[in-house]
Amino acid sequence: MERLVDRLAREQTLPAEELRHLLNDLDSETQAYLHRAACKVARAHFGREIYIRGLIEIGNICRNDCRYCGIRRSNRCVERYRLSPETILSCCEEGYRLGLRTFVLQGGEDPAFDDRTLTALLGEIRRRWPECAVTLSLGERPETSYRALFEAGARRYLLRHETIDTAHYRLLHPEEMSLEHRLECLRALKRIGFQTGTGIMVGSPEQTVDHIVKDLLFMREFRPQMIGIGPFIPQHDTPFGTEPAGSAERTLVLISILRLMHPAALIPSTTALATLSEEGRTRGILAGANVVMPNLSPPAERAKYALYEGKAASGAEAAEGVELLRRQLEGIGYRISPSRGDYGERP
Ligand code: 5AD
Repeated sequence: MERLVDRLAREQTLPAEELRHLLNDLDSETQAYLHRAACKVARAHFGREIYIRGLIEIGNICRNDCRYCGIRRSNRCVERYRLSPETILSCCEEGYRLGLRTFVLQGGEDPAFDDRTLTALLGEIRRRWPECAVTLSLGERPETSYRALFEAGARRYLLRHETIDTAHYRLLHPEEMSLEHRLECLRALKRIGFQTGTGIMVGSPEQTVDHIVKDLLFMREFRPQMIGIGPFIPQHDTPFGTEPAGSAERTLVLISILRLMHPAALIPSTTALATLSEEGRTRGILAGANVVMPNLSPPAERAKYALYEGKAASGAEAAEGVELLRRQLEGIGYRISPSRGDYGERP
């Protein structure tokens, strides 16, 4: 088994059969070996510095109806909100003060966030904080829209593919969505020049090891600059509300495998992972992740952005979140990078 890990580190990929073996038959000793190997690769690239991104959840209004997601259109139990441009700018301001140099604007697919509104907002962010990067995570949009957002100054876009298996995609999403369209969006983002992020939920309903292997090989081919991997966590008002949560251990294993396959990728230790276990965030880093995304959303709205159960949404102010993060990282011998952390940059 350890030889398989060595081979993955050396060749940055493995045949499907070997990946399946790694996922199915990993004992705890080899798992620790895998995490060490991945951590070594991350350190060779990024040292002991972790990039931070300020996450601003700009709204939970969504035209989509993904079966796993707490802010799906047919969930009548969520109180909906949309932040005004002024509120979003004050979140950035607070974030800037706290040392953040990347703002991630994430939200549901809300038609009110049209190109005019977003390009004006991006223009203002660029004007006020010219050295900062903006990442968008706003779902599927026409290529013309992605282009307008790029021209207005956004340089990174997160759009997880969720699963590369067509039938599995169907099961997780409503009729009107398709994997093909998702992939078209991802290809458009890359074409335009965005640093593009993709990824999956680990342990989503009906997910098999074969699906995951296909996801790994798809990402290997697509070469995303960012990879988001977090456990599926049920949200009680969704059709998957009583499904079991994904495994934190398997998420960590996947972070390590992906680090070995994509040495320079930006891989966050996700909020979902931190939600599942107390030590999730630091364990993600020790498995090879190199990004964390502290929450800059207004505490009053945070609970409403409930994609899943128990999402770390304490009423804590952004400042407390960043301070806690700083201490957690120090505790494992890492520190927050002052840089904005573009893909391909090395400290
Ligand atoms: N559990 C874990 N992750 C979820 N997401 C949405 N709903 C859930 C859930 N119930 C993830 C999706 C999406 C990202 C923004 O949040 O992968 O791409």
